[in-house]
Amino acid sequence: MHILTTQAQMQQAAHDLRRQSRRIGFVPTMGNLHEGHLSLIRLARQHADTVIVSIFVNPTQFGPTEDYAAYPRTLDADLAICRREGVHLIYHPPVTEIYPPDASVTLAETSLAQTLCGAARPGHFNGVCTVVAILFNTIRPHLAVFGQKDAQQLRIIRRMVRDLAYPIQILASPTIREPDGLALSSRNRHLTPPQRAQATVLHRALTLAQANFAAGQRDPRQLENDMRQLIQQAPDARIDYISIVDDQTLAPLTAPITRPALAALAVWIGQPRLIDNTTLTP
Ligand code: PAJ
Repeated sequence: MHILTTQAQMQQAAHDLRRQSRRIGFVPTMGNLHEGHLSLIRLARQHADTVIVSIFVNPTQFGPTEDYAAYPRTLDADLAICRREGVHLIYHPPVTEIYPPDASVTLAETSLAQTLCGAARPGHFNGVCTVVAILFNTIRPHLAVFGQKDAQQLRIIRRMVRDLAYPIQILASPTIREPDGLALSSRNRHLTPPQRAQATVLHRALTLAQANFAAGQRDPRQLENDMRQLIQQAPDARIDYISIVDDQTLAPLTAPITRPALAALAVWIGQPRLIDNTTLTP
């Protein structure tokens, strides 16, 4: 497994792979890899000859009050996992290699990013789009894999690929969960044991919404209220948002649901802010 740290090395390696007619599958990550990331790597391996994983904690997607400095950096463990999974190449650049000190061009997604985490974290998805575009331009993969856990990010990346005509296929990978339903996330490590027990409330709320929906409830307000009531029973839970939006446009729904919808939530459990989502399909 090769570990590359400069844009020049990465571009050259990608160029060589393309000359050998290798199909390049790319999995962008911020490291601290867990089973969720592994499922993306495995999906990439199924669809590509060569799998490239980037490990880069992207400063531009963190807000001024967010946890960029505290974000877990576990490179050695990440490399061991990638080796075991048969990853061919790791791209692990320093910040200066991605962002020149006087970088002044960024990307902005102006529609899908208006709701959910985009509304709660201003500028977050501009940072995501900008770094993913830089990584796409450096690596020039044939396909890239993103997790459904970050449903809004997945939709925004698909939109970016369409609108900017990137010749890259985007594959979506299902959310990997703990046995009790909690979606895997590097933020889960910041939960105290009592908070960890309460953190299942996100998945329980989404399961409740699915059950109510299956029983015929189509009113988004009612579905949201039932989720809110359940979550408020967890003493350390503080709701950022609970929202039912159109699955394609991510616009909030007020009228009865007649098309696929996305139920999404973000909840602080103590210090960490956790997100999860599910689709409601009539
Ligand atoms: P990161 O949070 O490291 O996640 C990398 C990828 O793993 C994302 O596509 C995310 O959706 C996926 N993922 C995380 N937890 C998952 C789970 N439990 N099940 C399935 N997939 C999961 O998302 C980012 O990094 C960054 O925003 C990035 C795209 C790398 C840009 O900086």
